[in-house]
Amino acid sequence: LPDGLAPTPPMGFNNWNSTGCAIDEKMIRDTADLFVSTGLKDAGYEYVNVDDCWAAESRDANGRLTHHPVRFPSGIKALADYVHSKGLKFGIYTSAGTLTCARTMPGALDHEEIDARTFADWGVDYLKYDNCNNQGRPALERYTKMRDALRATGRPIVYSLCEWGQNKPWEWGKDVGHLWRTTGDINDSWQSALTLFKANAPLDRYAGPGHWNDPDMLEVGNGGMTDTEYRSHFSLWAMMAAPLLIGTDLRKATPATLRILANREVIAVDQDPLGVQARVVRGEGGHWVLAKPLRGGDLAVALFNETDQTATVSTTAAELGLPRGAGHVIRDLWEGRESHTTGRISASLPAHATAVYRVRAGADWWQAPPAATLGLELP
Ligand code: DGJ
Repeated sequence: LPDGLAPTPPMGFNNWNSTGCAIDEKMIRDTADLFVSTGLKDAGYEYVNVDDCWAAESRDANGRLTHHPVRFPSGIKALADYVHSKGLKFGIYTSAGTLTCARTMPGALDHEEIDARTFADWGVDYLKYDNCNNQGRPALERYTKMRDALRATGRPIVYSLCEWGQNKPWEWGKDVGHLWRTTGDINDSWQSALTLFKANAPLDRYAGPGHWNDPDMLEVGNGGMTDTEYRSHFSLWAMMAAPLLIGTDLRKATPATLRILANREVIAVDQDPLGVQARVVRGEGGHWVLAKPLRGGDLAVALFNETDQTATVSTTAAELGLPRGAGHVIRDLWEGRESHTTGRISASLPAHATAVYRVRAGADWWQAPPAATLGLELP
């Protein structure tokens, strides 16, 4: 939606990938606290979002949704107030159906106005709108109805279409919501992250400021992948200008998990104001090259080794469309080191690893040490 609410992909947290329905208000409060104390808030994470199972089984006497008495005893308004008191924003969830996916609470189908009103009254800043139990009614109609209901409240609310890509939301989502799921659910496995990457990457032309492809929330830290794989997952999501919604219980996060999630230079690639999703330059044989133009003329380049063996993945300035003959500073965003090249960008990558570079086209390349000393090939 071109209303300025999501000029860059939303960043924050959602509990679903780590808890499923086993959520409680304490986790949400603890997460808000940890956003502040770990520096994640300063790194750009803003929305603290609750997923399915937060409401009581039935509506109250006035037809309004109400909080689950055991999981959220203090009520949703108090929780939103708490999150706001930390300088953060609060998000909630429901489904464009008669029930949510977990079937523990009513959905908003045919209750769009009253539910949108309730969310606005509570101070909700973000709505994830799922697709379960939709009674076979057209997606465009269901998702548009909630857009209009949210708009009518007058409260700015980021609107996430959780339609799973079934009705090609990238073709119509731009005028309906701020982001749309392009795939089914992620799970905490390398195979899943890879599948979603491959489904989402070709959709680059549909993304831009205010309208983002959403290959689902992050699994970084949940234990089913190696740190190398989590770094790739995070790198590829950043290259694809995906929403960065942390999906792990931060109370148990390891230093390695926090280092991945808090890498500001990779986050800056995701959040670049130009809002361009990376283009796949090449992917043959599982040796991937992706390129994402950044504001000011820089280019983010990812080299990704999908294969199960160590491999050298490389590209050239010519292949990337960089000016010929000029020197380029290359900054490795995971290693934090700079070098320069006039041609080739190349890395020897362990199985499933990704390197991300910021390539600075310009005149100051001589300030960086020669690439050869850092093991980078020169032409
Ligand atoms: C399906 C969605 O795709 C998931 O992200 C999650 O919200 C579950 N539903 C909740 O039931």
